[in-house]
Amino acid sequence: MTLKAPHIQTEIPGPRSRELTTYEGRHLAPGLQGFALSSGIAVERAQGSVIEDVDGNRFVDLIGGIGVNSLGHCHPAYTRALHEQLDKATVGSFTSAPRAELINQVAALAPKGVDKVQLYSSGAEAVESAFRLAKNYTGKHEVVGFWGGFHGKTAGTLAVNGSGNQKTYGPVPPGHVLPFANCYRCPLKLKYPSCGIACADLARDQLKHQSTGAVAAVIMEPLQGTAGNVVPPPEFMQRAQEIARENGALFIADEMITGFGRTGRWFACERSNVTPDVITIGKAFGAGFPISGVIAKGEIAQATPWANPSGSSSSYGGNPLAAAAALASVKILQKENVLQNVREVGNAMLDELRTWPDRMRWVGDVRGEGLLIGVELVADRNTKEPLPKNVCQEIFQDGLRRGLLAMSYTHAIRLQPALTIDRETALSGLSLLREAIETVARRHGGG
Ligand SMILES: Cc1ncc(COP(=O)(O)O)c(C=O)c1O
Repeated sequence: MTLKAPHIQTEIPGPRSRELTTYEGRHLAPGLQGFALSSGIAVERAQGSVIEDVDGNRFVDLIGGIGVNSLGHCHPAYTRALHEQLDKATVGSFTSAPRAELINQVAALAPKGVDKVQLYSSGAEAVESAFRLAKNYTGKHEVVGFWGGFHGKTAGTLAVNGSGNQKTYGPVPPGHVLPFANCYRCPLKLKYPSCGIACADLARDQLKHQSTGAVAAVIMEPLQGTAGNVVPPPEFMQRAQEIARENGALFIADEMITGFGRTGRWFACERSNVTPDVITIGKAFGAGFPISGVIAKGEIAQATPWANPSGSSSSYGGNPLAAAAALASVKILQKENVLQNVREVGNAMLDELRTWPDRMRWVGDVRGEGLLIGVELVADRNTKEPLPKNVCQEIFQDGLRRGLLAMSYTHAIRLQPALTIDRETALSGLSLLREAIETVARRHGGG
């Protein structure tokens, strides 16, 4: 049976959702992802880009597990591959047929020469491993990230996060966070391209003044996800790589969100013609199964102790079940020509969204590549003051009641639906979002 959305048949959240979340909430620690908390719904099942809650309400899913849900919920070939592997072997790090094939497929898809793969379970774990590798290879220890960047919540990754969550944990490992080319909120108030990417010069200078000369790695998201699906000019990544080179450091592309087709390319570093020393992968890679990885240039991957037996391994990394899941994901992306769909549906969504600033005063910026799309809501287009949080929450709740799941509870709305979403579903999701923004705007006498 094909699930169709939107379909709303109770108040939201409905009685069964309320009952389940209340039961769970008796002992669930706080701090769950914002969209799950804000929605209050409990999920019964999901298919493609449709989520059905336990009350029988169905929602168009434009959140896509924040970039995890590459194939759409419960893709039949994916679930089949997992079922088959479950009956064969699931545990341990011996070589298995799915892992052998997966490693070779990933090496073939990655930029030429970046072809040694190690597997993990979470994104932050892969980033930590990339940092350890960079420290072993360079013999140095400082790590460098960019304003707005996000690389995880572990101690090492906190040192390079520019998204604010590093401030409350006390001392973090030695690191620096440099200006990023977020053109809508340019740190130098300049305009691209006449700016000449001056923010990269500022970044270089900042590092010169702050570093002790011991930079091991510069890490960058090719397009920033957490910051609001921000698309820098392609040259910025080249300049960031130059900064790494000048400091004798490795250049790491964190492709956790952008990798495996999200932007219409296998890896988003391709848009900048940059070959990183190391790439970190996760999210869409496993299409829902917790699997992540590091892909490194061959010579770099030899650095010890990272390369010693048990030096770069983990308990779950690349076990047969995880490998079967990621292999199915990578094969389906290729077999079904999903990247073509990403480009076509992404363009259709962007064409529609780019008409919004003329129609809605709150829409300050629309940006995106493939199915990584950002829409920034501002209270005032001149000052670019973000739309207040409580108003964004109203937009989220209004959308929810219409049958939409989108990250509209903050002013920097991030849209990253499944890579397999069809044009009709994607555009229907956008019209629900537009109605939600317009309704709340009328209520506030703005928009
Ligand atoms: C670019 C990027 N890197 C790393 C991470 C951390 O991944 P995880 O939550 O799997 O640890 C995230 C998570 O959102 C991310 O967006």
